[in-house]
Amino acid sequence: MKEDKGYTDKGTEASWYEGWDITPEQRKRYSDLSKKSYQAKLKAVTENKVGFYQKINKPNLNPYDLMPKLPKNGLKTLSLFSGGGGLDLGFDLAGFTHVASYELLEFASKTLKINRPNWEVFGGVEGDVTTVNWKDYNGKVDIVHGGPPCQPFSTAGKQQGKKDARDMIPEFVRCVKEIHPKVFIAENVVGLTSKKFKVYLEQTLFNPLKNDFDIQMFTLNAAGFGVPQIRKRIIFIGISKCLKVEKYRQPDEHYTYSHLKRKKKTDNELLLFNLDEDKKKCMGVREALGLESLGYDALAPTLRCTLTGPRSTTSILSSTSAQKIWNSIGIWPNGVQSNRDKASAFATKDGTFRLSVADCAILQGFPEDWIFNGPVYQALGQIGNSVAPPMAYNIANSVAQIFKA
Ligand SMILES: C[S@@+](CC[C@H](N)C(=O)[O-])C[C@H]1O[C@@H](n2cnc3c(N)ncnc32)[C@H](O)[C@@H]1O
Repeated sequence: MKEDKGYTDKGTEASWYEGWDITPEQRKRYSDLSKKSYQAKLKAVTENKVGFYQKINKPNLNPYDLMPKLPKNGLKTLSLFSGGGGLDLGFDLAGFTHVASYELLEFASKTLKINRPNWEVFGGVEGDVTTVNWKDYNGKVDIVHGGPPCQPFSTAGKQQGKKDARDMIPEFVRCVKEIHPKVFIAENVVGLTSKKFKVYLEQTLFNPLKNDFDIQMFTLNAAGFGVPQIRKRIIFIGISKCLKVEKYRQPDEHYTYSHLKRKKKTDNELLLFNLDEDKKKCMGVREALGLESLGYDALAPTLRCTLTGPRSTTSILSSTSAQKIWNSIGIWPNGVQSNRDKASAFATKDGTFRLSVADCAILQGFPEDWIFNGPVYQALGQIGNSVAPPMAYNIANSVAQIFKA
C-alpha cells in the first residue's frame, strides 16, 4: 500500500497537498466562515427578486484567437506535472504531437482525459513521476516539458526549496537524463530565481544537465501574449548540444499592456508606453469578459492557485494589493460560481461582478470549450496552477523554430 501522497480525488484533503499547518482554532474559523457564506448564498439565491440578477456576460476575448491551431509539425512531446493542461494545450495547438501526460492529482488528470480522450494520460498512482522508468520513452519523444510544483519556491509559501517534500525539480532532471530529449522546457515561479535559490538551481538543474544541453532562463508575462492577467513566470529551456543550434530566440511578448496602467509615474514609463505602440493591445479584464465599460480597465492580478492554501476555497484573490485592483474594476474575486447562470443568480451585494469558472479560465487564456473536471475549488486550482496556454503556445512556437533552421 502506498503512502497517501494525494492520489485520490480528495485534492486538498490529502496530506501531501496540505500547504500550511493550521491550528484547530483556525480550522474552526474557516469552517464557520464557509458555513456563513453558504447560508448567505442560499438566502441570496432564494430571496432574489427580478432585477437583482447579474446580467450574463458574453466574453469578447476568444483565447483561440491568441493561439490559432497550427498544422502538425511532427515533433513529439512528453508532459510531466501536467495539471489541468495549460502547457499541454499550448503545445497541442502549436502543432506538436502529444505522447503522454503524467499528473499526480486524479481529478486534474481527468480534465485532460475529458478534453483529449485520445491522449495517453497517467493520473493518480500511475501519474506519479517519482515511480516512472523514463528509459522506456528513450528515442520516442523530442520534447520534455513540465512545471514542477512551485510551492517550494513561491514567495506566497515558506520557500523551503529542497527541504520541501514537494520539490520535484530533481525528478524532472532525472526524466531528462533518462530520455535525452532534443529540448526540455521547465516552468516555475519567479521566486525560484531569487538569490536564495541560486546555489540550489546550480546544483539541481544546471550542473546535472549543462554538459548535454545549452540552457537558457528567461521571464515571461502572460499579458505579453494577450492574456488579461499579470502573470510572470520563469522559463528554462535546454537545447541538446547534439542539435548544434547557434541561436535560440525566446518568444516575443507581442501584446502591450501599458495602456492598462492607471498612472504614468516616470519618464521611463512614458517611453515604454510610446515604444509599445506598435504592438497589439492586450484586453483588460472588463473588456475580455464583455462587461460594460467603466472608462478604464486593468489586467487581473495573478490568479491564486486555490489548491495550496490551508482550506479549499472558491476565491482567486492572491493578496491585499490584488483586492485593490479587483475593487477598482468592479469585480468580486471571492465566491466564484461553477457557471454563469449560477453567478447571475447570486448577485453580489455591492453590485460588483461575480465571476464564474469560465470567466476565470478566460482570464488565464483557456478557451471556453476546455472543460475543468471537479468542483469549483478544484477547477480554480487547475486554472491558477497552470501556464497560461497562449504563453505555452508561444514558447512551443519558439521551440518549433529551432527545427526549421
Ligand atoms: C504547477 S502545476 C503544473 C501545471 C501545468 N504545467 C499546467 O500548465 O497546467 C504542478 C503539478 O504537478 C503535480 N505534481 C506534484 N507532484 C507530482 C508527482 N510526484 N507526479 C506527478 N505530478 C505531480 C501537481 O499535482 C500539480 O498539478
